[in-house]
Amino acid sequence: MIEINNISKRIDGQEILNDISFGVNDSEIMVLLGSSGCGKTTLLKIIAGLLKQDAGDVVINGKVINDLPPQKRNVGFVFQDYALFPHKNIFENIAFGLKIKKIHENEIKKRVYEIMEILEITHLKDKKIPQLSGGQKQRVALARALVINPDVLLLDEPLSALDPILREKLREELKTILKNLGVTGIYVTHDLTEAMLLGDNVAVMNKGEIQQIGKPDEIFYHPKNEFVANFVGVKNILKGNIKELKEDVATIEVVNEDLKSPFTIKVKKYPIFERKRNVSLCIHPEDITLNRTKKDENAIKGKIINIIPNGSVLKVVVDIGGLEVYATTTRHLLKYGINDDVWVSFSRDAPHPMCGKKCRSPDQEALCKCKVSKNPIEEIGC
Ligand SMILES: Nc1ncnc2c1ncn2[C@@H]1O[C@H](COP(=O)(O)OP(=O)(O)OP(=O)(O)O)[C@@H](O)[C@H]1O
Ligand SMILES: [Mg+2]
Repeated sequence: MIEINNISKRIDGQEILNDISFGVNDSEIMVLLGSSGCGKTTLLKIIAGLLKQDAGDVVINGKVINDLPPQKRNVGFVFQDYALFPHKNIFENIAFGLKIKKIHENEIKKRVYEIMEILEITHLKDKKIPQLSGGQKQRVALARALVINPDVLLLDEPLSALDPILREKLREELKTILKNLGVTGIYVTHDLTEAMLLGDNVAVMNKGEIQQIGKPDEIFYHPKNEFVANFVGVKNILKGNIKELKEDVATIEVVNEDLKSPFTIKVKKYPIFERKRNVSLCIHPEDITLNRTKKDENAIKGKIINIIPNGSVLKVVVDIGGLEVYATTTRHLLKYGINDDVWVSFSRDAPHPMCGKKCRSPDQEALCKCKVSKNPIEEIGC
């Protein structure tokens, strides 16, 4: 178990980390998700002992390790650029951490071969680093960090240098390897898919601060604020006032600033809802459908103003009376073009309150029937 308690750090007078706290249980992975420059690598360096914090504690298995030098922390580190030794061969690169610890040569050989076997790189053992592909280097870096049997493994965007196909393959392999070995780790990434797949918990960071920590589903479906919502791909945020509450449905008047005139929607009732209170709701673009005629009870008239190809899907931007909403669809399913009039529709279940975990807080548990799915794509609701 690793605990990060109230870590702060300034560099050259600039605040880089501000009061960061979280814990990672044994055999779990915490993903740090955040944009470039938000302080992710700085935090990992502090945990590894490569940089000293100004305030706060790093606690591993109950011991404060603030004053231990890096080699005594038993922390494995896979660096952003791998930082392998170019003149050593693969075996020597992996054996490095064990040699420093003055482990007996036979034991080193046994452990290096074991880990090379797990990562399927034994055949590369005599090669030098420049002779390897990106994916092979990534495996060597992982082997070098794992061979010391670390209490905590730190992975700093380990897949970011790879092409998308290899990246997809390796992230699934990595998940299997980390789970099979029962690794306790902190995994840094910008990539939402990686975060959802690999994280037992995810911490979303912005400008040196944690915005939200939660299970991947909580972050995805119940982002706490606009920053987290944007990070998990939800640009559709409806700001409204709760007008009426019935047993299982709430009527909400949507009053976003950009809207020329408000409109009313019906939303599944969440335990946190109270009449006359304001609420921000987010709707994932894949939960929005576009129709020629008014179909759903939640249907708002709009005009398509842009269609943006985005990998395997199309992002359709629709103006609904001054407010832009985003829908995703496939090329095959899109029947409309720019300037077409459409009805933007969504079901009662689609809007989720931006409540962080509040709708599932212990005192609300009895009221709330949130179903948390393991598959982030599957719908959840209250
Ligand atoms: N040695 C340093 N001297 C001055 N500023 C630094 C130093 N190291 C980091 N910083 C600054 O601290 C901030 C956080 O840097 P850090 O490398 O931790 O970001 P990051 O979240 O890992 O970004 P990326 O995703 O691009 O790797 C940045 O603004 C960076 O410029
Ligand atoms: Mg970094």
